[in-house]
Amino acid sequence: MKDACTFILMLLIQTQLFFCSAETSMYTKDSAAMLVLPLKTQEISTGSLPRAPNKLPFTHNVTLTVSLAVGTPSQNVTMVLDTGSELSWLQCNTTRSGQPVFFPNRSSSYSPVTCSSPTCTTRTQDLSIPASCDSRNLCHAVLSYADASSSEGNLALDNFNVGGSNFPDTIFGCMDSGYSSNSDEDSKTTGLMGMNRGSLSFVSQMGFKKFSYCISGSDFSGVLLLGDANFTWLIPLNYTPLVQISTPLPYFDRVAYTVQLEGIKVSDKLLQLPKSVFEPDHTGAGQTMVDSGTQFTFLLGPAYTALRAEFVNQTSAVLRVLEEPEFVFQGAMDLCFRVPMNRTNIPEVPSVSLVLRGAEIVVSGERLLYRVPGQVRGSDEVYCFTFGNSDLLAIEAFVIGHHHQQNVWVEFDLEKSRIGFARLQCDLARQRFGVYRSHNF
Ligand SMILES: *[C@@H]1O[C@H](CO)[C@@H](O)[C@H](O)[C@H]1NC(C)=O
Ligand SMILES: *[C@@H]1O[C@H](CO)[C@@H](O)[C@H](O)[C@H]1NC(C)=O
Ligand SMILES: *[C@@H]1O[C@H](CO)[C@@H](O)[C@H](O)[C@H]1NC(C)=O
Ligand SMILES: *[C@@H]1O[C@H](CO)[C@@H](O)[C@H](O)[C@H]1NC(C)=O
Ligand SMILES: *[C@@H]1O[C@H](CO)[C@@H](O)[C@H](O)[C@H]1NC(C)=O
Ligand SMILES: *[C@@H]1O[C@H](CO)[C@@H](O)[C@H](O)[C@H]1NC(C)=O
Ligand SMILES: *[C@@H]1O[C@H](CO)[C@@H](O)[C@H](O)[C@H]1NC(C)=O
Repeated sequence: MKDACTFILMLLIQTQLFFCSAETSMYTKDSAAMLVLPLKTQEISTGSLPRAPNKLPFTHNVTLTVSLAVGTPSQNVTMVLDTGSELSWLQCNTTRSGQPVFFPNRSSSYSPVTCSSPTCTTRTQDLSIPASCDSRNLCHAVLSYADASSSEGNLALDNFNVGGSNFPDTIFGCMDSGYSSNSDEDSKTTGLMGMNRGSLSFVSQMGFKKFSYCISGSDFSGVLLLGDANFTWLIPLNYTPLVQISTPLPYFDRVAYTVQLEGIKVSDKLLQLPKSVFEPDHTGAGQTMVDSGTQFTFLLGPAYTALRAEFVNQTSAVLRVLEEPEFVFQGAMDLCFRVPMNRTNIPEVPSVSLVLRGAEIVVSGERLLYRVPGQVRGSDEVYCFTFGNSDLLAIEAFVIGHHHQQNVWVEFDLEKSRIGFARLQCDLARQRFGVYRSHNF
């Protein structure tokens, strides 16, 4: 079934592993089939995810994952949902330990892409490293990792079964060399699902004109919906147009979901920053991307510095800054606080709003402060502000991560080239969709 307009796929995002059987499939008023798949949030070992070179040169370790079946007979795989990258890939090196792998040799529908195939010659132009030809005359793909190492493999085709619907001949990277992480034991991820606007991304290949997700703020449960749906109960979305540029620029990722940031507020106070701070420069550096593959949010230096100062100012009465200049969480978050351990709640802090053209993302309460595990100072715990400085990571962009997209309905409308946002209690959304925790587990 390839008629994406009538196909709505729902996925559950859960912290706990569970699954829903086919009985949980259901129908909406407009009788589009809704199929439910297991999906969860999980921790990924540092260094285990490849990133495009112009993306974040660090690793986050909490990811949104989706489980699906690939090949004939089908093999279960778990993939990271990443709106920030294009090529989906699976780990195919069957001699690796510590990471689930896909066995291409066990799939009768698997076929590698040859160099002369148009898929190799014309469809790979948006990849950050162009495809090449290997000694066996197969199309060779390279993905770069956070720490500048890389993973290589072949472009290949196989059947992807998503929620009971089959997508034959889906192009992906079947990776056979790469990062060998020694702390991969608890990683349950077989690969990554590229969801950006490039022609090889999962969403482009499957022909979906729209997809949406809602991530719960309480337990990382949520909904992912592939397809165009008319949900009249949904509160109206505020849309922001996707920014497109006509000429390629070295630092501008043209297939990313780029939006126009226009300002940042702390409570109601707009930071005094020139508009140019939020606009890409002549090299393309400075775009703002919505990225489900990144956990926290990163701002370029001038914006970050202003936000940091204002947040410190407005919280000076309730928060005690951790005065340790050398303490930088995840290499980019240098604003941390000491919070007494015996508190039941974190102190009340002002909200931070990312003002986009036509829409606003408001981050409040506990989403603003992240407890750093294992960090204790006397009777205090260490909490860090969940916005980081892109400059400390040499990232040339603003990146809005999934931690700040919780309890927000986010719709990626590819046809109308826009992203819609609406504040929503995602566990309620799940109920409205009729999606409940499975009784099977
Ligand atoms: C992920 O990060 C959290 C918080 O920093 C840490 O407690 C956890 O051990 C990390 N997990 C992995 C697999 O690195
Ligand atoms: C794949 O997952 C399905 C549903 O979660 C399960 O019924 C099936 O046994 C799994 N197959 C394998 C080979 O693990
Ligand atoms: C897969 O099969 C090919 C051809 O039969 C063989 O050359 C290759 O070593 C096999 N790979 C693995 C990982 O088993
Ligand atoms: C597969 O992984 C093993 C172990 O990490 C590595 O030694 C080997 O070179 C890899 N195979 C290929 C074809 O890269
Ligand atoms: C959604 O609803 C509107 C108005 O009722 C209608 O014009 C449009 O065709 C519908 N779209 C789909 C995909 O059903
Ligand atoms: C916060 O900023 C205001 C206005 O700039 C200033 O008057 C005040 O002293 C600052 N407060 C602190 C605690 O830095
Ligand atoms: C927490 O501990 C401090 C000193 O140890 C004490 O003054 C304060 O009352 C305690 N607060 C709560 C909520 O127990």
